[in-house]
Amino acid sequence: MKILMVCLGNICRSPMAEGILRKMIDEKNLSVQVDSAGTGSWHTGERPDRRAISTAKKFGVDISKLVARQIEVSDFEYFDKIFVMDKSNYRNVVQMARSKEDSSKVELLMNLCFPGSDTEVPDPWSGDEDGFIPVFKMMEKACSSLIASLKIS
Ligand code: 4NP
Repeated sequence: MKILMVCLGNICRSPMAEGILRKMIDEKNLSVQVDSAGTGSWHTGERPDRRAISTAKKFGVDISKLVARQIEVSDFEYFDKIFVMDKSNYRNVVQMARSKEDSSKVELLMNLCFPGSDTEVPDPWSGDEDGFIPVFKMMEKACSSLIASLKIS
């Protein structure tokens, strides 16, 4: 199973989601690959936002070595599922899809734990560091649901 986490800049939400899921996968010895990307290219080549790095560190997740990249069409071939953080990400990613099969891989992350709710993971970038904690916890809940579903499937 190969999973891609996607947000706008690939420096706040999706690198935290990648780190959370990778830690859970490692702890459970599951054979799942995880990566992250942004729909925008502004931060390509950069490390995650320092507030994302320090928030993740508080919860024992190291994302300090991740490097931002932009999503590309070939990601639809490589990944089995593409989880997006908000509806704007959803629109941008689905716009790149070449087929129904491609677009069926795209899903809002929070629908993993609140199916059909279309809950968005808010963008913490323009707020202060405290705003990163509830965002981290939301994504942790979604990733736990994902791990639970992988173990029974
Ligand atoms: P992210 O947050 O999508 O969670 O990585 C953002 C990071 C950068 C920008 C917007 C959102 N930006 O406009 O540069």
